[in-house]
Amino acid sequence: MPAKRKKNIFNVSANLYDLDERNVTLDDIPFYLEYASRVQGPVLELACGTGRVAIPITAAGHEVWGVDLSDPMLDRFRSKLAVLPSEVRERVHLLQSDMSDFNLERKFALIIIAFRSFQALTGAEKQKQCLARVREHLADDGIFIINVFRPFAMLDQSWVKEESLDWEVTDPETGILVRRTHIRKKIDLRKQIIYPELIYYLYKPDGSEEKIVEPLELKYYYEAQLRELLLANGFDIVEELGYYDRRPIIEGPELIFVCKRKSRN
Ligand SMILES: C[S@@+](CC[C@H](N)C(=O)[O-])C[C@H]1O[C@@H](n2cnc3c(N)ncnc32)[C@H](O)[C@@H]1O
Repeated sequence: MPAKRKKNIFNVSANLYDLDERNVTLDDIPFYLEYASRVQGPVLELACGTGRVAIPITAAGHEVWGVDLSDPMLDRFRSKLAVLPSEVRERVHLLQSDMSDFNLERKFALIIIAFRSFQALTGAEKQKQCLARVREHLADDGIFIINVFRPFAMLDQSWVKEESLDWEVTDPETGILVRRTHIRKKIDLRKQIIYPELIYYLYKPDGSEEKIVEPLELKYYYEAQLRELLLANGFDIVEELGYYDRRPIIEGPELIFVCKRKSRN
């Protein structure tokens, strides 16, 4: 039987990932830096990707561990680290692993799953295992922050849509003009899984063109569902926010839960 393809790990587009500079990928960095500044002790980012968030946290002086399943994303992370001063590089520790199955044998003051990465876990068992791993690795008074997008309404088949443009930018490293679009391919309403495809059109300085397609498979959550999942898996929720500017959860396009381990009493 052919090996099952690992999904949601940006295998064909990792080197294009950091070109995405929409507000949502800029606004969360100061938000996570602020929480890192509040804690004493190391920080763990699950599904750390290319280090978009983890590198600024490390550069601010924190010891950071990053776990990600994707070799190409971690390779990109390592190449970004390589040009940084050695004292910054030495504060970073990377592990290639599934976020629902890892053991770092240490406790963390802050654990984050940024930019909707938890949605890559589409099965209930994996979601629970991941939250159990977070609990196991969280210091007694540690903070856990998780973010998913807020569905704009009760989703139905009208979620499925033709291709539309996300952004266009010239890659400063290669001079390639990159146009990113996406197609909303399919939705499974029973399992609450969406199947978008990210599409990259590359226009190279030598005149050649390339098209790269990254199919994704993401679980979506309504606000009450994620809240219940966290409460049922050993967390107390200490803050609920709707965006990185700290607006109330009901007023924002994101669902952000700041949690602690459930107190034993
Ligand atoms: C949207 S990216 C976010 C990366 C980074 N956290 C950021 O904010 O830029 C999602 C990341 O989740 C990773 N990922 C997907 N499934 C995973 C899994 N089961 N375990 C660990 N990482 C996973 C992907 O490789 C990718 O790096």
